[in-house]
Amino acid sequence: MSTHAPTTPTPATPGKSMDAIMALCKRRGFVYQASDIYGGINGFWDYGPLGAQLKKNLREAWWQDMIMNPCWGRKGPGGERVRCVPVETCIIQHPKVWEASGHLAGFADPMRKCPGCGHFVRADQLRDVLKTQSEWVASLLNEFEALKQTQTFDRDRLTKWARGKGKKLAPNLALVTSTETTLSWLQERMSTWAINPMNDDEIIDYAATAQLQQTGLQQPCPRCGGVLGTPAPFKLMFETYAGIIQTDDNKVYLRPETAQGVFLHFKNVVDSTRVKVPFGIGNTGRSFRNEITPRNFTFRSREFEQAELEFFCHPDESFEWYKFWRDFRMEWWQSIGLAGENLILREHAKDELSHYSVGTSDVEYRFPFTAPGFGELEGIAHRGNYDLTQHQTHSKVKLDYFDTTRGETLPNGGKKGERYMPHCIEPAAGLDRGTLALICEGYTVDPSRPSPEILKLHPRIAPIKAAVFPLMDKDGLPEIADKLTDDLFANFGRLGFIESDAKQSIGKRYARMDEAGCPYCFTIDGDSAKDQTVTCRDRDTGQQMRMSIDKVVGFVGEKLGV
Ligand code: GAP
Repeated sequence: MSTHAPTTPTPATPGKSMDAIMALCKRRGFVYQASDIYGGINGFWDYGPLGAQLKKNLREAWWQDMIMNPCWGRKGPGGERVRCVPVETCIIQHPKVWEASGHLAGFADPMRKCPGCGHFVRADQLRDVLKTQSEWVASLLNEFEALKQTQTFDRDRLTKWARGKGKKLAPNLALVTSTETTLSWLQERMSTWAINPMNDDEIIDYAATAQLQQTGLQQPCPRCGGVLGTPAPFKLMFETYAGIIQTDDNKVYLRPETAQGVFLHFKNVVDSTRVKVPFGIGNTGRSFRNEITPRNFTFRSREFEQAELEFFCHPDESFEWYKFWRDFRMEWWQSIGLAGENLILREHAKDELSHYSVGTSDVEYRFPFTAPGFGELEGIAHRGNYDLTQHQTHSKVKLDYFDTTRGETLPNGGKKGERYMPHCIEPAAGLDRGTLALICEGYTVDPSRPSPEILKLHPRIAPIKAAVFPLMDKDGLPEIADKLTDDLFANFGRLGFIESDAKQSIGKRYARMDEAGCPYCFTIDGDSAKDQTVTCRDRDTGQQMRMSIDKVVGFVGEKLGV
């Protein structure tokens, strides 16, 4: 199997338990909560030995396939070789960068505060949070299930709920604090239920509204039921100070995306290298967002790592390049193991587009916590010339490009040249979300196996590349195992761990490797000394085959695609 061939798709993700996946991640050293021994810190995650190597393999696969040998050597829309170079840029940049990029003015989530309990909720997520995370809403809607059947108003039942469960779960809800008046509005509305049924959102809002005529329908706090305040922007950038004086003049920001560092060096890269438009500049690194509701394990974190490419091209060719990158990025995620129906490419509707984008597609994965829906893994945006133009305006440094291959043909056969502001196509991936998607996709429970939890990671990405087990710790078997381990180390140690283990039953040793995602185990037994063969066990099928010891390195190399 070549490196770029998709793996066999595992069954769809919905049945997979996030609790079981998180438990395995901790147990086997993939992911730990940051500051674990202090009780953790919300929105921050660390990687253990296997997770750190898994994420490194993902980063290096990106680096290899996006920068060093972009798109596996595939030609671009005009038949040209795709050219990309890397940069590495600082987390803290000049504060004006964020003014120019639009982050200082616009990078904020609309938040609503509950004056009753002080809870904040993102305005655009309120409906979803109310219906999926609020205990009192679940309880109230449960009461309404019975009323929906009969389509009748049942004052006694709702009063009982308000005085009992409602009072306990949602002490600030209008239905609890002003039961009579709230119920009278509800009764009036429900009298028309037969011709105009109420949906869940309306039921929730009516329960939160005591003075319908004065206030209109209100939206309640998912936690206590109190009426939420109007939305106000909450800035997502972390702030700190550079230098000893901590005033506004020295205020700086932790970058919320790696992309801006690239735009800042567009001119430097053009001037200091021989790259010509079209070409890309890639950057991987940490980004920081003070997410209001970090959740779903590492999916929405406050510190995370991005791998972003800014690909600069002529405006006339930009939509061709946009389609090219969108399709390649989908294929790339498939090549490293997200090959099944859990991966989709979704084009944004016009009203979803970011302020800088004239077209965006997301590669989305069906995580267990988004199922049956999908969550963003990577965004591929057509950013037009927004960023270079903004930085040119704010820095007063000319960032346009003089293209000597364009313009009128001169009498000497050369070109007059054309000056333009390049357009930018940005495939922006998240390495933590990528790592999480690979773990979720690979996580498989097979009750027919002695140890049913298996992590089916693509060999290229797997943190442990191979394991060598002497069946017994005697009779010369450890020596043969050591020699094979050394050979595997010498060839693949730079790509991941090579494990060697002589303890425990062979079944337990296989089970440990299955959970850790090691694709191949090689067992040395009594015959190995006689005929120089070993048993190769395949993680995904559990099947074993006999092979000559001197074929092992070649076999592993072929599976890893190196
Ligand atoms: N430069 C464009 C940009 O940053 P984005 O869609 O905001 O676009 C790109 O981020 C990718 O970064 C996302 O697709 C996701 O994988 C990752 N990402 C964004 N916010 C994240 C967070 N809070 N936690 C983990 N990953 C995140």
